[in-house]
Amino acid sequence: MFVSENLSINEKGHLTIGKIDTIELAKDFGTPLYVMDEALIKKTCKNFKDSIDRYYDGKGLVCYASKAFSCLYMCRLMSLEGMGLDVVSIGELYTAMKVGYDAEKIIFHGNNKTDEELEYAIESKVGRIAVDNIYELERLDRIARDKDISIGIMLRIKPGIDAHTHEFIRTGQIDSKFGFALETGEAFEAVTKAIECKNIELKGLHCHIGSQIFDVKPFELAASVMMDFIAKIKNELNYEIDELNLGGGFGIKYVENDKPSPLDTYMEVISKVIKTKCNELNIKQPFIIIEPGRSIAAPAGITLYTVGGIKDIPNIRTYVSVDGGMNDNPRYALYQSKYDVVVANKAGVDKTKKVTIAGKCCESGDLIGEDMEIQDVEVGDTIAVLATGAYNYSMSSNYNRIAKPAVVFVNENRAHVVVKRETLDDIIRNDIDV
Ligand code: LLP
Repeated sequence: MFVSENLSINEKGHLTIGKIDTIELAKDFGTPLYVMDEALIKKTCKNFKDSIDRYYDGKGLVCYASKAFSCLYMCRLMSLEGMGLDVVSIGELYTAMKVGYDAEKIIFHGNNKTDEELEYAIESKVGRIAVDNIYELERLDRIARDKDISIGIMLRIKPGIDAHTHEFIRTGQIDSKFGFALETGEAFEAVTKAIECKNIELKGLHCHIGSQIFDVKPFELAASVMMDFIAKIKNELNYEIDELNLGGGFGIKYVENDKPSPLDTYMEVISKVIKTKCNELNIKQPFIIIEPGRSIAAPAGITLYTVGGIKDIPNIRTYVSVDGGMNDNPRYALYQSKYDVVVANKAGVDKTKKVTIAGKCCESGDLIGEDMEIQDVEVGDTIAVLATGAYNYSMSSNYNRIAKPAVVFVNENRAHVVVKRETLDDIIRNDIDV
């Protein structure tokens, strides 16, 4: 009935998440409010981990891409679930280290890591730094030599695959700011150089072909291209690559028409390709890493808003204004992303209206979505926007000096705040008034 399996309707006709009444949540914690379902997050993690056990004899690691949603509680949860972690900034790494994350399981990404970030990653003893470019490799080599230590790295490779997703979130093709290109020989040169660096340990190769991808074919193709490259490295440089990181990007259901592949099919197809290639090319089976972000966080989350005003413009459209908007969910403004919405206090009623949901920012493009199907919505209703667990809180802003909402986790009939709602004092915290 709903795009995410953890949502239902109770006897009052209210939307529930993880069996908890969303109207109660809105009353207790206020709106706008991010709500995340811990049980679903754990279930998805288990699903990914099981798929590695089933199809690849457990020889791999699922690293949650914390850019999708990060806070202390989420990092602790991922750590307790035995997950690895993909971090892409010193801030994400700091959050993980604050909960005592096993640094060996952390991969540090980024196309322009600062010296401060590299130093912190090294001090924290992160297991792998995903090196993006030659300047970074040289800098790391220098740091490692100065400190007389060895640094474990992966090289980020562009496998040149068009995963047919939204142009802004496509990162695997040659025209991308991320990684070393295969076609130009740049990737091979980087591998050669990395092997020569005495204090650098080249553990593996990494690629990430995009995000919100439904089809498993591009992943199959990426695995195949990467395996060919691993064979070339073995044959021409006599160096065996131990690890292959195929990134994240597994699509989820935002709206009814979205048809994502079941999550375990990714490991199923990837494993098949890798095993076949290993036999064909006579190379050893690499340790596999995957980095799902959206597929773990998005379906587990919803955002609750209160309707403050409705403007019916005859023959044009009906604007429904809510108490949040592009501050807490910039994805429509950025990518025209589609979402499903429900009037949480009328969840059992048919959707008979089409409305445009607008935020409260001083910006015409501040919309949650246009022409969205919804119940007969009235001022004072609570609206739930579904599948907002990824890239909403993590991309939120204080534009117009609007405070960020709280994040509440629900689990086994309990709801608790994991990120406090920002206050007006938070808004002026760093201001200096001289
Ligand atoms: N690994 C790497 C190296 C990545 O760059 C990303 C996402 C992931 C893993 C996780 O991908 P996921 O499984 O979440 O698709 N802000 C955009 C998404 C940007 C994704 C960037 N990289 C959005 O809101 O759709």
